[in-house]
Amino acid sequence: MLAIIGGSGLTRLSTLAVTHRQVIRTPYGEPSAALVFGDLAGHRAVFLARHGHGHTIPPHRVNYRANVWALKQQGASAILAVASVGGIRGSQPGDLVLPHQLIDYTWGRPSTFFDGDDQQVVHVDFTHPYSQRLRELCLQAAADGNIALDDGGVYGAVSGPRLETAAEIDRMDRDGATLVGMTGMPEAALARELGIDYASVCVVVNHAAGRGESHAGVSMAGIADVLESAMDSVRALIEHVVPLVPETPIEIEQHRGALRMGVETK
Ligand code: HPA
Repeated sequence: MLAIIGGSGLTRLSTLAVTHRQVIRTPYGEPSAALVFGDLAGHRAVFLARHGHGHTIPPHRVNYRANVWALKQQGASAILAVASVGGIRGSQPGDLVLPHQLIDYTWGRPSTFFDGDDQQVVHVDFTHPYSQRLRELCLQAAADGNIALDDGGVYGAVSGPRLETAAEIDRMDRDGATLVGMTGMPEAALARELGIDYASVCVVVNHAAGRGESHAGVSMAGIADVLESAMDSVRALIEHVVPLVPETPIEIEQHRGALRMGVETK
């Protein structure tokens, strides 16, 4: 079953024929909202509003662990994460981009399920942070639905909630980041830790600080306008992806290894 995590501009999924909602408690606390189950294009899917139904939870306060845990516990085999981003290079406001890599600049967020205590030490492979299989299904869905989706980008995850300085964006550009957003991490890493396929559809809602139209500053009114019009394409893309995702996980477990007494075990 595909899970969709909706970000800013996508706090509900109108194309989902809702069957039930479920409030979940996890060992990490409560998810951002009740999980919304339903049928989409004839297949079961589950939706979660990352910032809460009323969009009240800022990026640094999202309980990413509870969100990912709850989706796994409820049988999600893959997560398609929708996120709004600023474009640093190679994109324009209104574009949809499917990143293939990320750089994590976030700090202070609980970012792992393997947090010590009396567990064994676990390291997951994160060389390729997004599931290539799920990315390919997204590209196929975009082709099927005649939806423009750019293949590839480097997502720079920042803590926010403030936007960046022009110099910070210049540094991220030098690092190789082409997009900047506030929610992509630790979400992607947590999905990997639980063996859930994860990919992100990024909606470019503004030029990043100091770039293009944001030369003198980032316009919040502009962001709201772009978000609203781009979400139609996102909904259409989701409608075409859901039927392509198998019920069972696509690429599970091979990324996870435990390090015990210096010996790697799989
Ligand atoms: N920076 C960080 N996060 C964002 C931006 C941005 O410019 N636009 C949308 N989310």
